[in-house]
Amino acid sequence: MARNIQAIRGMHDVLPDSTPHWQYVERIVKEVMSCYGYKEIRLPIVEKTELFKRSIGEVTDIVEKEMYTFDDRNGGSLTLRPEGTAGCLRACLEHGLLHNQIQRLWYYGPMFRHERPQKGRYRQFIQLGVETYGMPGPDIDIEILLLTVRLWRRLGILDHLELQLNSLGTTEERLVYRQQLIEFFSSYPEQLDEDSLRRLKTNPLRILDSKNPKMQALISQAPILMDFLGEQSQAHFAQLTQQLDHLGIRYTLNPRLVRGLDYYSKTVFEWVTDKLGAQGTVCAGGRYDSLIEQLGGKPNHAIGFAMGMERLLSLLEESSQLPEPQLVDAYLICVGENAELAGFELAEKFRKELPDLKLQMHCGGGSFKSQFKKADKSGAKYALVLGEDEIIAHKISIKPLRSDHEQQTVSHEEAVDLLKKVLN
Ligand code: HAM
Repeated sequence: MARNIQAIRGMHDVLPDSTPHWQYVERIVKEVMSCYGYKEIRLPIVEKTELFKRSIGEVTDIVEKEMYTFDDRNGGSLTLRPEGTAGCLRACLEHGLLHNQIQRLWYYGPMFRHERPQKGRYRQFIQLGVETYGMPGPDIDIEILLLTVRLWRRLGILDHLELQLNSLGTTEERLVYRQQLIEFFSSYPEQLDEDSLRRLKTNPLRILDSKNPKMQALISQAPILMDFLGEQSQAHFAQLTQQLDHLGIRYTLNPRLVRGLDYYSKTVFEWVTDKLGAQGTVCAGGRYDSLIEQLGGKPNHAIGFAMGMERLLSLLEESSQLPEPQLVDAYLICVGENAELAGFELAEKFRKELPDLKLQMHCGGGSFKSQFKKADKSGAKYALVLGEDEIIAHKISIKPLRSDHEQQTVSHEEAVDLLKKVLN
């Protein structure tokens, strides 16, 4: 017998029992986006490799070892997008969307990173991303944080998430800090692990992000970037935190928050939870003004974030905030020679008059008893019964399946009214 072919490691199917949960979250996300006036942008899944190298940074984990890169048939190097910020900015520059304009955009879709798969870390995962352009902040920084808070509130998980904040200053400020960090860590080479020794040469800020417990004591003594910020960066951050205080948005200052992508400056943030183990960052982002020039645009401003939808759904599940979906409201049972055809006609009448009704019609024949069993299993609240008696009388019987109420036999019009009432 032929061997079954399995999905690629780290890439998952979303099975029919789970899709209603995804659809629920997707609906709420879309509602929140539109209630802040954000517009959707749809972007290709594949981009030129150069785009990610130039934006995310040559010496980041993503570009160094996680990209799905391949040669196009006509020679160019292409990459499955590992994130959406670069592609979104590329599209906006290409179509002139940043010319004297402000943009508030969102996108939703799969991203690809060849990471070591574990719970909450996949090779194909879905991100909801938000990117805004043309606003120097910190007002827009606050708006996007408020938007995330609104989303957590709508989903009932605000209490399980902590907002961590930091400022990475400007490129120039970071260069001075980088030098200080190199000097500091170089004085303790025996305490650095292999990864950190490598990063000391390539990307010393990332040493601060090390998860190695043996490194934590040393990291806690390292100089702090906040102390190297210039007046303007300091003022930006002070204004941001003051306004968050005023608005009652709680946050924790995390001077070690550096992010794994190179394009950030000034405000950076992460929403983290302790309910998901090691992969507890549900949503992360920050300001990336200088990336616009790096990708060929005029000086401008940008801030955004992305959230991992798998992690968000796991958090909802862990906190019991996923509503049980009602997939079928009514199940139409038809027994007898003429019942099936009459059943089709009646089902179409109901679907026309009650467009929100989720009506499943029994297919495959069988006795009343076996059809009732299927009706029950479908989760429907009502069985609509069409037998020979009902057909002769031009009526239909309605039997509640989840309560002790009596079965009623009514005209087709009365059935429409009744279903309208009970389903509201
Ligand atoms: P990121 O921190 O690389 O940022 O990813 C954002 C979120 O995507 C993470 O916090 C996590 O929830 C989810 N995520 C990342 N990698 C995986 C994975 N392998 N499996 C499951 N979930 C994952 C960015 O991607 C930036 N583009 C965010 C941004 C937008 N910054 C500004 N604008």
